[in-house]
Amino acid sequence: MRLEGKKALVTGGGAGIGKAIALAFAREGSDVAIASRNRANLDQVVQGIESLGRRGLPITADVAYEGQVRDIVDETLEEFGRIDILVNNSGIPGATRDVTQIDLEDWARVLAVNLTGAMLCCREVLKDMILRRAGSIINRSSMAGRRGVAGRSPYVASKWGLNGLTHTLALEAGPHNIRVNCICPGATEGERIERVMRALAEATGEPYEKVKRRYINRAPLKRMVTPEEVAECAVFLASEESSGMTGQILEVSAGG
Ligand SMILES: NC(=O)c1ccc[n+]([C@@H]2O[C@H](COP(=O)([O-])OP(=O)(O)OC[C@H]3O[C@@H](n4cnc5c(N)ncnc54)[C@H](OP(=O)(O)O)[C@@H]3O)[C@@H](O)[C@H]2O)c1
Repeated sequence: MRLEGKKALVTGGGAGIGKAIALAFAREGSDVAIASRNRANLDQVVQGIESLGRRGLPITADVAYEGQVRDIVDETLEEFGRIDILVNNSGIPGATRDVTQIDLEDWARVLAVNLTGAMLCCREVLKDMILRRAGSIINRSSMAGRRGVAGRSPYVASKWGLNGLTHTLALEAGPHNIRVNCICPGATEGERIERVMRALAEATGEPYEKVKRRYINRAPLKRMVTPEEVAECAVFLASEESSGMTGQILEVSAGG
């Protein structure tokens, strides 16, 4: 097993890609704390983690709030004793409209969850990792953090910000023997991408099927990726197999 005896914290571990990562980590031997707002989803994933013989810890919280992030980290440290791996996976797509139609509240919420939430989790977890001189942090960006996407300025800005945060924290944490890397998934199969494509179709007036074809055709492999493919990359970045890597932005996007 590649993560035998490790202790991980995965934000947004109750659904989608975060759920796949939490289960992949458990399969590889790690106990996993998962934090998000929907308790029922968390409880269901914890059942899956425990059926793999590992400890699961559900924590109901919103990562946009500083006090709640402190509670997530305190509870994980209290229950697990340490955090070896942090995955900042929580994210929201935000509005699909041109910037002239974006109100400040929408903008601020996307930045608060996707970027500030990740920074707060890094800040709190790094305090423990620095004391122990060990740890791996994995941020979840997006291919929207590699290019522009018309109609999605808050989301795109949040993901470019996350890439910059990754490069900077790798510089700050490296001397403490802590690695900070980032995964950019492309369109990933699941309910979330269906909602995103429908919102784009509505905003542009294009048929949904045309939007979907565009997403698929952009990738040389002519398909979306699966949450499990993204999770495999997270296992690699969490494990000793990537011990020489930090400050890297890896794309899991079928090439698109
Ligand atoms: N799906 C894609 O095609 C795709 C592509 C590129 C990047 N990504 C990124 O990958 C990550 C996961 O996406 P996904 O596709 O798995 O989406 P998802 O199924 O919508 O999952 C998002 C997760 O984030 C959690 N979350 C949302 N707001 C939160 C908050 N304020 N505090 C704590 N947790 C919160 C959600 O849980 P609760 O609702 O329970 O809080 C959920 O567990 C996101 O950062 C997304 O931007 C996705």
